[in-house]
Amino acid sequence: MNFLIIFLIFLNINLVFSANILAIFQYPFYSHQFTNQKLMKELALRGHNLTIFTSHLFNYDNLPNVIQHHFKDSSKINDKYTNMLEYKQKNLNWFQIDQRELKTYYETTKSEILHPEMQKIIKNNEDQKFDLIIIECCFCHLIFLAEIYDCPVIYFGASDVSFIWHGLMGNDVNPALYSDFQLIPFLHRHLTFFERVQSLI
Ligand SMILES: *[C@@H]1O[C@H](CO)[C@@H](O)[C@H](O)[C@H]1NC(C)=O
Repeated sequence: MNFLIIFLIFLNINLVFSANILAIFQYPFYSHQFTNQKLMKELALRGHNLTIFTSHLFNYDNLPNVIQHHFKDSSKINDKYTNMLEYKQKNLNWFQIDQRELKTYYETTKSEILHPEMQKIIKNNEDQKFDLIIIECCFCHLIFLAEIYDCPVIYFGASDVSFIWHGLMGNDVNPALYSDFQLIPFLHRHLTFFERVQSLI
């Protein structure tokens, strides 16, 4: 009987591998953060160590393997430069909208890179190790962290991403066939010849 119990216990033993994961959710909108938070919680419940940077803090029920850092200025910066209603009222063209969006990303990126905890991650004076980096954003400038930590990076976006980032991830796109997502009016349809030329330029 004892032998049978021990045999059954060994039969149920699985090897558990946990990883140190750095997760960065930069885009300061709840809709962009919500799914990531659920995913992070499931990863934490499976025993992975998570270091999360986010614009929207989430209640992880004090799980000891989750460390959260708050990009608290991101939403404020975004609200300052991006205003869809104003775009509409002033009837801004896609080029003008693009300039405003780029300004938003520039300013949020600057504040996030200068975040004291992100500075520690970038400098890595304590020789911390990460097995995986997960990044959600439209612009994946923090991809350089994968070089610092010599680990794979999973990059995903709730919307499409710019060609430059597709290229960085090894997924080159021909701009004469598909427009960059920043060329908003050209999305989701076949391009005319002149749209192809604009897209290429
Ligand atoms: C996760 O963190 C705990 C506590 O700091 C540590 O003991 C464990 O080794 C870490 N796991 C990995 C995969 O590094």
